Amino acid sequence: MSQLSNNPMHLMVPESPASYPEAASLPGSLLSAASLTPESVSEILAQATVLECENPLQRAKRLASRRIALLFYEASTRTRTSFELAAKGMGADTTLVSNLSSSIEKGETLKDTGLTLRALGAESIILRHPSSGAPWLLEHETQLPVLNAGDGMHEHPSQALLDLRTMLNHLRSDKERVTAKTLTGVTITIVGDILHSRVARSNMLLLPKLGAKVILCGPVELLPDTAALAGPGIEIERDFVRALGQSQVIMMLRIQAERLAGLHIDLEEYTASYQLTEFLLAKHAPDVHVMHPGPIVRGLELTGEVADGSQSLILEQVRHGVAIRMALIDRALRAASSQEVPR
Ligand code: CP
Repeated sequence: MSQLSNNPMHLMVPESPASYPEAASLPGSLLSAASLTPESVSEILAQATVLECENPLQRAKRLASRRIALLFYEASTRTRTSFELAAKGMGADTTLVSNLSSSIEKGETLKDTGLTLRALGAESIILRHPSSGAPWLLEHETQLPVLNAGDGMHEHPSQALLDLRTMLNHLRSDKERVTAKTLTGVTITIVGDILHSRVARSNMLLLPKLGAKVILCGPVELLPDTAALAGPGIEIERDFVRALGQSQVIMMLRIQAERLAGLHIDLEEYTASYQLTEFLLAKHAPDVHVMHPGPIVRGLELTGEVADGSQSLILEQVRHGVAIRMALIDRALRAASSQEVPR
């Protein structure tokens, strides 16, 4: 079992599959974007469209009387709500367990909480946890399909999938079938606090597999040079204007104040060098698509005008979250139906 870790330096370069045997997860689980292939992504995208377009009354019969648990040890608005709406939209029974209002407060472990949810009939668990690797532990202990809804500074694979669906909607006519060449010629720049960002890591794992070039842009405190070793198709460009000028998509990130752990960032200096403004967009990237996984901090990584402007896809990303998460829950419960799980 991989060690639960909060140390971002250990996480910048993913471990090799050989030292990470548990990366091969149970059918129906989605723990890491590393497990996704163009074929599996195509299946998820196609199913997202089927489910999104289905008559809601028909769709609500799909998972009637099936049980899903949402286990959230960290705050969330977008991910929690979209997973819950996705499950309910397909007729599943959902229960939300949060660290603030459950026996986790009394010291119950992740393992015991997972086994309890399984004994209560949960067939799949959606987990957000502050420790990197927690979804692997939960899957191992419960033998249920687990959907990683963000583990510490490690990964957020469903966010990478919804980001991809948003990009394809604007960049490609075929939005459901991807290959290793679908994003050839497309440059996506991820800007800001790369070091602490699980969204950046999952996108760095997914997008180059589809042919994209990923540029990472930020100050050295938030983007160590070793990040360029994270995989093929990944480059570092410290100059924001140079990165902007060569991108079709720019993904802005929040500085994760809750994870800085003593690291001091001069915010005035940061905004002077890396804040996305209307002026910069107009001058250097009038056609770039602006994305952000949220939550956004207006006036820090981007201005309010950019967030609300015509180049912003931020709310569209949120909308794609429901369709993608319906497809992931459907996939998890189809796999759960075919497995013998001890109760
Ligand atoms: N993008 C994202 O994970 O947002 P939440 O923390 O609100 O779920």
